Amino acid sequence: MTRAVGILGIGSYVPEKILTNNDLEKMVDTSDAWITERTGIRQRHIAAKDEATSDLAFKAAVAALDDARVKAEELDLVICATASPDHAFPSVACLVQERLGAVKAAAFDLGAGCSGFVYSLAVASQMIQNGLYDKILIIGAETLSRIMNWQDRNTCVLFGDGAGAAVVGAVDEGLGVLGIDLGSDGSGAYHLYQPAGGSRRPASAATVAANQHTIHMNGREVFKFAIKILGRTSLRALEKAGMKPEELDLLFSHQANLRIITVAAKRLRIPMEKVWVDVDKYANTSAASIPIALREAQDAGVLKKGDKLLLCGFGAGLTWAAIVLRWAK
Ligand code: ACO
Repeated sequence: MTRAVGILGIGSYVPEKILTNNDLEKMVDTSDAWITERTGIRQRHIAAKDEATSDLAFKAAVAALDDARVKAEELDLVICATASPDHAFPSVACLVQERLGAVKAAAFDLGAGCSGFVYSLAVASQMIQNGLYDKILIIGAETLSRIMNWQDRNTCVLFGDGAGAAVVGAVDEGLGVLGIDLGSDGSGAYHLYQPAGGSRRPASAATVAANQHTIHMNGREVFKFAIKILGRTSLRALEKAGMKPEELDLLFSHQANLRIITVAAKRLRIPMEKVWVDVDKYANTSAASIPIALREAQDAGVLKKGDKLLLCGFGAGLTWAAIVLRWAK
């Protein structure tokens, strides 16, 4: 049994508090000009003290279910892509499953860094295509502010908190997911990681004192990797979809850095008018960035049924992922 599978509804949530580049100037040795020129970021949203990843995920999930007109009880599975879960276990997906009342849903978290939402869409689409499930909620949710070293200007200016979610299900023939490319290269694992708190380096007073529970990143290496991989993975997904880059209506790249997005668009010869950019408002929200962008594009009225979209991401792992789909709503 195979069937066309696509996004039935999309939702997002970002916390109320905004931290601007000017605010960061007061915290570390940086400037609005440096951040804007090097990254395109102007501000980011930061979770309140009592907001954890599952709280953001839940709000995005409710919005996605509303948008899809699907009830939580209809869900067969909840997948949450995150690198900043409430706890090492249980999964964020289980916490959201309970809060939604998704009584018949299985639930698990997926760890693919910033590629997580596209990975989740790939997994969900295959499970529905082969008939195992009918409706799956996928979420990308992060509170990276909680694992940030607020004294490290190399990382603290880059990230923001937020969540996005999509309900995935069967759609009309010819619409939905048309081509998927996923990949990884663990040789770059330690270019972007959280050193302590896991089984390699369990939490101790020493790991806390050494700031090892925060994001450590070799920005230049991640930048080089992103530049190299985004075009490549996108072309592979396009080839599987039997589509040329010029046929695309909109490109939704992971929103990490405007320079990376611009290079990816150039490699694909896609004009910037067809590229969704909101990194200025939210910074890098990791697994949440693509669904937040999709919801924003939908709210702006630029997504039409049948539009040909490319979603592409890269992230910790290192991982990459691209999906070509025709918008089905
Ligand atoms: N303000 C002022 N100066 C800074 C700042 C800052 N916030 N951050 C770094 N600098 C300094 C550096 O210390 C360096 O100074 P030095 O030359 O005296 O050593 C100088 O600016 C230039 O640093 P570069 O690293 O060369 O700057 P670059 O132009 O490469 O930009 C950046 C750095 C923005 C981090 C870039 O490399 C990048 O975007 N990398 C990719 C990061 C990314 O996307 N990560 C997320 C991956 S997705 C996931 O899974 C979470």
